[in-house]
Amino acid sequence: MPPGLDRLDHETIVGWLREADPAVLERLWARADAVRAAHVGDAVHLRGLIEISNHCIRHCLYCGIRACSDGVTRYRMTAAEILECAREAKRLGYGTVVMQSGEDPGLTREFIADRVRAIKAETGLAITLSLGERSDEDLKAWKGAGADRFLLRFETSDPGLYHRIHPSLPGTLSDRVAQLQRMRAMGYEIGSGVMVGIPGQTWEILARDIELFRDLDIDMIGIGPFLPSPRTPLGGEAAERLRASADEQVPNNEEATLKVVALTRLVCPEANLPSTTALATIDPATGRELGLVRGANIVMPNVTPPAYRVLYEIYPGKACIHETAEACQGCLERRIRSIGRTVGSGPGGRRRSGPAAVTSSLLPTSARGRGDPRPGRH
Ligand code: 5AD
Ligand code: FES
Repeated sequence: MPPGLDRLDHETIVGWLREADPAVLERLWARADAVRAAHVGDAVHLRGLIEISNHCIRHCLYCGIRACSDGVTRYRMTAAEILECAREAKRLGYGTVVMQSGEDPGLTREFIADRVRAIKAETGLAITLSLGERSDEDLKAWKGAGADRFLLRFETSDPGLYHRIHPSLPGTLSDRVAQLQRMRAMGYEIGSGVMVGIPGQTWEILARDIELFRDLDIDMIGIGPFLPSPRTPLGGEAAERLRASADEQVPNNEEATLKVVALTRLVCPEANLPSTTALATIDPATGRELGLVRGANIVMPNVTPPAYRVLYEIYPGKACIHETAEACQGCLERRIRSIGRTVGSGPGGRRRSGPAAVTSSLLPTSARGRGDPRPGRH
């Protein structure tokens, strides 16, 4: 029997993830799009992404800019360059800038706080940070300086898989879920996300990822396919060993990614979901659009100067890597209009509204207010 849509418990989510019949999947796509329209509307909000540094002290097994990647020319943008990118985002009509980097202690507490203050004062844009695992002191200082949101993907909810692909720093145990919860308490809107098709990832794990989005009430959720980088262990033999260890390896393809996007929209109807660059990378022709018609409502055009952009190669063939900010803007606006949607204005933060009729029967007993609901901590 095909899975239902009215009670998305664990078994039903796994059932949908395993579903392969295109006619049955049409029901999932249609419902995700209806829930997206009812809860976050037709406007697609644009966030200007500034990749401010590709220095990184971590050794994530999947990431092309990991500390020990050979042949990566490292850069750190200057204060003036970052401000110029924020001005560009403002000129292009975006409501938010996202400052993203590797985990780079060279980006000091003071440096980032000063950038946040300067961008806020001049542009008034909403400011999202995505700077990896940082101390509470750093995070509080940046919130105090005016940062609004922080993105930190937990990558997978499975503690075993997480620690295999994401080694901790000596003397500390990496716990991104705990950092997300602390940031929420500090007043940040919190963003997270996962990769789909990580070697060793099963449908069961992926279903728990989706449940964790719901249980943590994540405001922004980025979902993209895992793309092997030949510069990394997961671009080579280690990936084969991990894949062999999973009884039911999730493929890192477009359909699997879109299923996760659609199911996430159903369990987190109000969240902001980007149609990710990784999705556009595996399907340059229609990946962005398919994300947007199967649950997503956000796009993050890159406003990093092209000379730096090419050095921020976390996986090969990254979409738009050679484009200018204007080219991306024009291209994305066309794509958004081609599917009958509008470009959003304003900051486009998380909306918290009353339930709309279309989803009231979809939500399982509310995840809010249950003690600590995590299936496993990192
Ligand atoms: N393939 C796909 N996504 C990746 N990311 C990092 N490396 C890869 C890869 N090889 C994603 C991670 C990270 C985000 C910034 O990019 O989810 O959190
Ligand atoms: Fe960048 Fe199309 S979105 S060129």
